[in-house]
Amino acid sequence: MVLIAPSILSADFSKLGADVKEVENGGADWLHVDVMDGHFVPNISFGAPIMRSIAPLTNLPLDVHLMIENPENYIPEFAKAGASVITVHAEACVHLHRVVHLIKEHGVKAGVALNPGTPVSAIREVLEDLDLVLIMTVNPGFGGQAFIERTVNKIRETRQLANSLGMSGLHIEVDGGIAADAAGKVVAAGADVLVAGSAVYGAGDRAAAISAIRAGAER
Ligand code: DX5
Ligand code: ZN
Repeated sequence: MVLIAPSILSADFSKLGADVKEVENGGADWLHVDVMDGHFVPNISFGAPIMRSIAPLTNLPLDVHLMIENPENYIPEFAKAGASVITVHAEACVHLHRVVHLIKEHGVKAGVALNPGTPVSAIREVLEDLDLVLIMTVNPGFGGQAFIERTVNKIRETRQLANSLGMSGLHIEVDGGIAADAAGKVVAAGADVLVAGSAVYGAGDRAAAISAIRAGAER
């Protein structure tokens, strides 16, 4: 089953509650929460206070993508704010194993993200501890960028590795430039969680946009 996770990065922050409800009613499976610090990525989005405000408004699992340095300092706060999944970047963690276990100690599912320039080998030693691998299909920092085709190979490699380890339940999430056309390719390669920011929130009819991505994924 393919899960669609609209990213609120592309929502209208002045009516965030309504924008969250709209995708929930429109068939979203998870809500993707993009946290950016202006250091790990060249953009600033928002932090835990915003997440605390939206958490009581929705039943969707909150899928937190930390594009920040020193994520270990913020994991307790995001766990307390209601995260279901917390994903950190391999490139941002000197002590990746410690950070993954910190997430799990807080009772939250643990994910690790890989930038387009980072190989799958970067997560090999923690893979068996993970619930999710996030393959970035753009360089993180901004919504609305073009899907990088080459990342399809990395999705396939990650799924093959997970299968060889008997990890059939591992989520492989993709993030960046996902619309109906890319959805088919990434799902065929082994992805099962599709993040979509501009393709959902840039559309007039968000429910139709979610359906179109799902249809693309099932093609
Ligand atoms: C990019 C973020 C994404 C972003 C995706 O750095 O991690 O989650 O919101 O936006 P689109 O779908 O517009 O590429
Ligand atoms: Zn993201």
